[in-house]
Amino acid sequence: MGGLERVLTRNVGIPNSERISVYLERGGYTALRKALQMSSDELISAVKQSGLRGRGGAGFPAGLKWGFMPKDPVTKYVCVNTDEGEPGTFKDRLLVEHDPHSIIEGVIIAAYAVGASRAFVYIRGEFFLGVKRWIKAIDDAYARGFLGKNILGSGFDLDLSVHRGAGAYICGEETALINSLEGKRGEPRIKPPYPAQIGFWNQPTLVHNVETLANVPHIVNRGADWFKSIGTERSTGTKLFCISGHVRRPGNYELPLGVPLRTIFEDYAGGMRGDRPLKAVIPGGASTPMLVPEQLDTPMDFESLIAAGSMLGTGAIMVIEEGTCMVEVARRLMAFFAHESCGQCTPCRVGTVRLHEILTGILAGEGTSTDIESMEEICAGIAGNTLCPMGDAAINPVLSSLSHFRDEYEHHIAHKRCKEVQ
Ligand SMILES: Cc1cc2nc3c(=O)[nH]c(=O)nc-3n(C[C@H](O)[C@H](O)[C@H](O)COP(=O)(O)O)c2cc1C
Ligand code: SF4
Repeated sequence: MGGLERVLTRNVGIPNSERISVYLERGGYTALRKALQMSSDELISAVKQSGLRGRGGAGFPAGLKWGFMPKDPVTKYVCVNTDEGEPGTFKDRLLVEHDPHSIIEGVIIAAYAVGASRAFVYIRGEFFLGVKRWIKAIDDAYARGFLGKNILGSGFDLDLSVHRGAGAYICGEETALINSLEGKRGEPRIKPPYPAQIGFWNQPTLVHNVETLANVPHIVNRGADWFKSIGTERSTGTKLFCISGHVRRPGNYELPLGVPLRTIFEDYAGGMRGDRPLKAVIPGGASTPMLVPEQLDTPMDFESLIAAGSMLGTGAIMVIEEGTCMVEVARRLMAFFAHESCGQCTPCRVGTVRLHEILTGILAGEGTSTDIESMEEICAGIAGNTLCPMGDAAINPVLSSLSHFRDEYEHHIAHKRCKEVQ
């Protein structure tokens, strides 16, 4: 797939790409000028027609979400979700550090389209460089008249500021993010109502992932048809795939949605790092069920991954080689979810801790014949019974490793040692 155009990462690798002067030299903020000449309806319709879907994990159509924002002249907000907490995901950081103005331009266009005059960046506390880059880029955008009052003489006002999170994964969930931004505990709210109806300070709020917003200037500049010509019919545009684990060249690769997993793994990431063959792939971040080598030709788009029994999630691909204990993989992921559960729902709060205890016991040679059944029961108790999608996500590592590698669990329990790691 050589010669493919990089859209979102077109500035990555250019010296000082984070500077406003470089962004402007490379055609930056032309989409904003164009957007300010368009009506709100025209912009919303362009984003709808482009087929752009959210890149934060759920894949919800962006234009539809813009359309859900009420037209009334009430106070409205935009939030830029820069929490990027999903294990295996490191794509938003790339854009924030190397091309923050492309995101800012997307934020201003989105805010103008939905009639918001206040926007926030919510960034995870660990992104030190990202925070600096955001603040500098926002200051420079104010100085050039792209933010603040009467942007480029259009009469449209927008203020944008940065809010640092304190390291909780759950604050990436949009309603927990809003609570945290309001100074409350970062706990998800019951949905509906969705943030587009009742969000920050109970006002309509558009929450978008960094990568989603970075697509917006390109759609405005080049049109919905151009955007739709990339990817598949229902998964349009390019995607930043972050690949990590036992591969030769881990990193971020921008490719059209629908690219086969095999292409990313072999042609871009260079295949396995050593002599051991591939054992499993987690295709879209820790929350997504794993795939096995026979599924390597799965196209990386929203629909194909669901058909394959998994999800595109954030596009974070984690590659696992033969010789890796899958019970240990499940335990490590469960340690993450048990630690990150916000604790509001009993099935998630207690279930994740209990699953972690059982997995730890199995690995310590203390497994019992009822452990697998108990884990399945706990997972069934969590599935669909929690307030936010994290409950369903947390059980995926256990259920998918059990479905593909049940023999390893059984071996651990029967022989008190690992089948793989001798
Ligand atoms: C537990 C959990 C964590 C999440 N973390 C993030 C995150 O770090 N970044 C993100 O953009 N979306 C995250 N999301 C998804 C957001 O709730 C929301 O769907 C997204 O920000 C919407 O933006 P999009 O439509 O552009 O994808 C998370 C969801 C859940 C359930
Ligand atoms: S599912 Fe878990 S993380 Fe989500 S609200 Fe319930 S307890 Fe919190």
